[in-house]
Amino acid sequence: MTNVPSPTVAPADGRLGVLIVGLGAVSTTLIAGVELAKRGIAEPIGSLTQMGTIRLGKRTDGRSPLIREFAPLAKLEDIVFGAWDPFPDDAYVAAQRAGVLESGRHLEAISEALREVRPMAAAFDNEYVKRIDADNTLHTIDKRSMLNAIREDINRFREDKQVDRLVMLWAASTEIFLEPGPTHASIEAFEAAIDANDHTIAPSMLYAYAALLEGVPFCNGAPNLTVDIPVLRTYATVHNIPISGKDFKTGQTLIKTVLGPMLKARMLGLKGWYSTNILGNRDGEVLDDPDNFKTKEESKLGVLEHILDAEKFPALYGDVYHKVRINYYPPRGDNKEGWDNIDLFGWLGYPMQLKVDFLCRDSILAAPLALDLVLFSDLAARAGMGGIQEWLSFYYKAPMVAPGLYPEHDLFIQLTKLKNTLRWIMGEAPITHLGIEYYLEDEGE
Ligand SMILES: NC(=O)c1ccc[n+]([C@@H]2O[C@H](COP(=O)([O-])OP(=O)(O)OC[C@H]3O[C@@H](n4cnc5c(N)ncnc54)[C@H](O)[C@@H]3O)[C@@H](O)[C@H]2O)c1
Repeated sequence: MTNVPSPTVAPADGRLGVLIVGLGAVSTTLIAGVELAKRGIAEPIGSLTQMGTIRLGKRTDGRSPLIREFAPLAKLEDIVFGAWDPFPDDAYVAAQRAGVLESGRHLEAISEALREVRPMAAAFDNEYVKRIDADNTLHTIDKRSMLNAIREDINRFREDKQVDRLVMLWAASTEIFLEPGPTHASIEAFEAAIDANDHTIAPSMLYAYAALLEGVPFCNGAPNLTVDIPVLRTYATVHNIPISGKDFKTGQTLIKTVLGPMLKARMLGLKGWYSTNILGNRDGEVLDDPDNFKTKEESKLGVLEHILDAEKFPALYGDVYHKVRINYYPPRGDNKEGWDNIDLFGWLGYPMQLKVDFLCRDSILAAPLALDLVLFSDLAARAGMGGIQEWLSFYYKAPMVAPGLYPEHDLFIQLTKLKNTLRWIMGEAPITHLGIEYYLEDEGE
């Protein structure tokens, strides 16, 4: 049991503004799903906050409320969406173009609500996202001007929509690969780099910084560095603003963080893991550029390394060939195919193979994660929990962690951590799964 006292959580009164960077496939699927669920037209399947339960107390107590009834989360009815995108299409047109949801079945019924979400001019620079050519932008790549414009947008949105709280979510294209460097180390260096229009300051960092300057929690659904740099992590901690990232854990990596821990749990060895994807949405097109793909590749590759821990188990994982490919293949649209070939070995070194072919839907998997992240980040803010929200690792391919900690990738450890954090927030005892007490009671103890 932790000695850290549970926080006091402010109630979720009033309206929650959700500001999304990027109004593409994931964002429009999220917005449409929330509007449909609000009206009872469709179920928010895949969302832990909407459908999940949480066990409280002993197994024999029979207490397993819905998470949304246990923790004071914002209600779907209270969410108001806003977005930025270099394409001028409103959410209705953008959803049609993304082609994820069926128009007659799902978009027409909520067309009015979708039409109301019109993208604000984006802080966009082609240098960071190569394959997008659109002009609903600020028409400047001066970084200070971009930062100021985003801050003004946040405040205008707050006023116009009369929202009480805000969360910002990056669901925009994956930017080119950048590594943390000296310009990300301190506020002074970061501010100077903004004024110098330094290459190491990507637009996503400006959105994240603007959010933090306005006291708004930030979640990063893409693998870009964005808020995962010392200067912004420190700022978020000092000013008590929740941040989390990176990269929604949806298709292939979701499977990897279930199968990888299974191999390790059974002490089965691994020779190679070849993962390939075909997808034909705009995300796939952006990732077709090598600089943008590099960012995604790093995020996808890191997972196995951490799970398997070759240093501790050299005989099992000392010589693993791990390869990840993403191929842009337009005919598939958003319906990605993620194919895995796993070469493993067992008792006395005998080889085996495992093949997974996940015919998934990218945005259908991502939208519920985006919703949960927004609702839990808002909860964290009301509970006064600033800085990195490691308990939200469950949702990310490359979870942000405090310096010196390794990220936990195992999906079920992540889920346990998330639920224990909710229990702690609400003053309930954590569940360790030790369970010895059930047997001691039998002996009259
Ligand atoms: N769908 C998934 O399963 C999944 C999983 C993990 C991560 N992601 C990431 O989520 C992000 C969104 O995915 P998607 O399928 O919706 O992509 P998408 O291409 O459909 O939408 C991204 C949108 O972002 C816009 N954009 C680019 N730069 C911008 C900027 N500076 N400001 C504002 N808007 C900007 C683009 O114009 C585009 O409309 C991508 O980075 C993707 O890699 C998606």
